[in-house]
Amino acid sequence: MPTLRRLDQLLSNLGYCSRSEARGWLKAGIVTVLGEQVRDPGRRVAPAEVRVDGEPLDHPDGLLLMLHKPTGLVSSHDGREGATIYSLLPERWQRRNPPVTSIGRLDKDTTGLLLLTDQSALVHRLTSPKQKVPKVYQATVDTDLSPALVPRFASGTLMLPGETEPCAPAELRLLGPRAAELTLIEGRYHQVRRMFAACGAQVLTLHRARFGQLELGDLAPGKWRLLPLDTFA
Ligand code: URA
Repeated sequence: MPTLRRLDQLLSNLGYCSRSEARGWLKAGIVTVLGEQVRDPGRRVAPAEVRVDGEPLDHPDGLLLMLHKPTGLVSSHDGREGATIYSLLPERWQRRNPPVTSIGRLDKDTTGLLLLTDQSALVHRLTSPKQKVPKVYQATVDTDLSPALVPRFASGTLMLPGETEPCAPAELRLLGPRAAELTLIEGRYHQVRRMFAACGAQVLTLHRARFGQLELGDLAPGKWRLLPLDTFA
């Protein structure tokens, strides 16, 4: 049995319109429930019964998507920090409540795979340190990398300035004199940049290629694609 929800609240939570605008929409006859025009904004409905302009509701059960984050956008809802990743989404999704939010963050200058969802339980689960989801980063740096960094990153003893716990063991693969792939199971603030900095190298470019089993594939920068809600079930 699907959960029944107030029609005006449902439309507003899915980003169609405000609850007060919903009254006007119902009066205008553009919303139907089981094929009938409905005027009562408080009518309790199952989302699958509702049509707006004859169309089924836009992902009423929730959203999970993979974004190829380009450089220059912040992973924050606060527009004062600069243009945000959310500006890449359809406007209706930007108005949803609960809001679509990122699962972890990437720095403004970092590119790559970022997951977005309106499922707060999934955000908590996948960002929890207990989950140990492997995240794969590709970095270029400003100085030649010594092979001695591989065991140092793997040791579980690397300390970051200002922290009391060492970084968990991380897998470093040297791809070239100044390029490497790093797999982390943690997600500390600016972690990749700070780990390299702790070893005397400044990260010049940073790209996340994988999150768990998910890869960007041929998704272009700035583009997103929907994932099944049970992807991490
Ligand atoms: N580590 C960083 O330093 N920056 C990111 O954006 C992600 C991981």
